[in-house]
Amino acid sequence: MDGFSKYYKKTWQERLDILVKQNKITLSQRQMLESLAVNQEIGDIQIENFITQYQIPEGLAMNYVINGKEYIVPMVTEEPSVIAASSHGAGIIKRSGGLKAKIHSRLMMGQVVLENVDDAKILVNQLQTQISTLIEVANQAHPSIVKRGGGAREIEFRILAPDMVSVDLFVDVQEAMGANILNTMLEAVAAKISEQYHRDILMSILSNYATKCLVTATCEIPIDILGKNGIDGKNVAQKFAQASRLAQLDPYRAATHNKGIMNGVDAVVIASGNDWRAVEASCHAYASKDGQYRGLSSWEIQADKLVGKITLPLPVGAVGGSIGIVPLAKLNKQLLTFENAKELETIIASVGLAQNFAALYALVTEGIQKGHMRLQLKSLAKSIGANEQEITRVINELEKIGKRDSNSAQAILEKIRGEK
Ligand code: MEV
Repeated sequence: MDGFSKYYKKTWQERLDILVKQNKITLSQRQMLESLAVNQEIGDIQIENFITQYQIPEGLAMNYVINGKEYIVPMVTEEPSVIAASSHGAGIIKRSGGLKAKIHSRLMMGQVVLENVDDAKILVNQLQTQISTLIEVANQAHPSIVKRGGGAREIEFRILAPDMVSVDLFVDVQEAMGANILNTMLEAVAAKISEQYHRDILMSILSNYATKCLVTATCEIPIDILGKNGIDGKNVAQKFAQASRLAQLDPYRAATHNKGIMNGVDAVVIASGNDWRAVEASCHAYASKDGQYRGLSSWEIQADKLVGKITLPLPVGAVGGSIGIVPLAKLNKQLLTFENAKELETIIASVGLAQNFAALYALVTEGIQKGHMRLQLKSLAKSIGANEQEITRVINELEKIGKRDSNSAQAILEKIRGEK
C-alpha cells in the first residue's frame, strides 16, 4: 500500500506518524495508541510492525487446590463470566478434596516428512536400523538441551501414503516448550536422511499434536452437595453424566463443551506467557483422536460421588519465548508458584476441568444466562460510561425491568444522574 513501503524499517514513532499522514487514524487516536503501548521496546522485540499493546484483562481465580497445594491462578480473558465461574467451580471441588493431576509423559514431537518415496516399506525398514544414529544426529544438533538432561529419546515412522513417510522424533525438552529445539534437531535429521537414505524432504517441523505430552486431572464431588434450584444432588449428577455423554455423541455439542474447557485453559496459558494457539491446536486434534470430534472431559457417577476427568495434551514451557521477555508473564509465574513445566501442566488441566464443571453445573440446573446476566449487565453499564457507584443501580434497574439493551441502560443512567 502506498505510504507503507518498508514500514518494518521505520521507528515506532514514524509508524504512528504514517498512520496519521495516510488518514488511517486521527491525531487523538495516535495518542491513544501511544498511551496504550505499555512497553514499546518489548513490543518491538516481540513482533514486526509493532504499533501498541492490545489489552486483555487479567484477573485471579481463587479456590484452586491441586495435589494438595493451594494456588491462586492468574487468568487472561475478556469474557466476563470466566474467572467467576472458575473460582466457583474450583471452590466446590475444593470442599470435596480438591483436584488431582498427574503427568503421563512429557516428550514433544516433530516430523521430517519424506516425499516421492518409491517403496515406503523398504525405506522405513532401512531407517529403522538407523534409529540410534538419527537420535545421535538430533542430539549433536542441540547439545545444550542434552547438557540440561534432555535430548532426543525416540523415533517412530508412519507411512502416510504409498509415496509419503513421516519420521517422528520425540524429544525431552526439559523446561522449554521446545519448538526451536525440535526444529533445529529435525532439520539436522532431515539433512542426514537426505544425504544417505532418501533425497526428497518435504518439510521438517514440530507437530502441535503433542500426544506424548499428556496430563490428566480428576476430581470427586459428593453427590449430596450438588443439589441446586430444587433439583436434588442425585438428579444433578445424572444430568452431568448425560451432559458428558452428549459431548461424546455430538460434535456440535462437543465443540461448545470444549470451548468452555478452553476458556479456562487458554486464560492460564496466555497468563503464563505460553503459545495458546499451540495448545488450542493440540487439544482440538486430541478431541478427534478416534476419528470423531468429542468432549475432552468425562463425568460419571461412582457410588456416592460425581467423578470428573480430563486428559489434555499440553505443550507448554516454564522458560523461553515470551516467558523470559514479558514482565507480566514472569510475575504470573511467581503468583502461580509452580516449580516446573510439569506442575504448570497440572494447573492448566485442572483449570480446564473446573471450568467445565462450572459450565455444566449451570447448564444442567439454572441455565447459563442467570449467572452470566449480571456480569453482562455490568459490562453494559460500564460501556455506557456508568461509574462504580452507578453500575450497581443500573444493573438492578435493568434486572427489574427485564431489559438488557444499551438504550434502556442509557435511560436509567440519565435518570440516576438527574436525581443528583
Ligand atoms: C461459554 O463461553 C462457554 C459455555 O458455552 C461452555 C459450555 O457450554 O459447556 C458455557
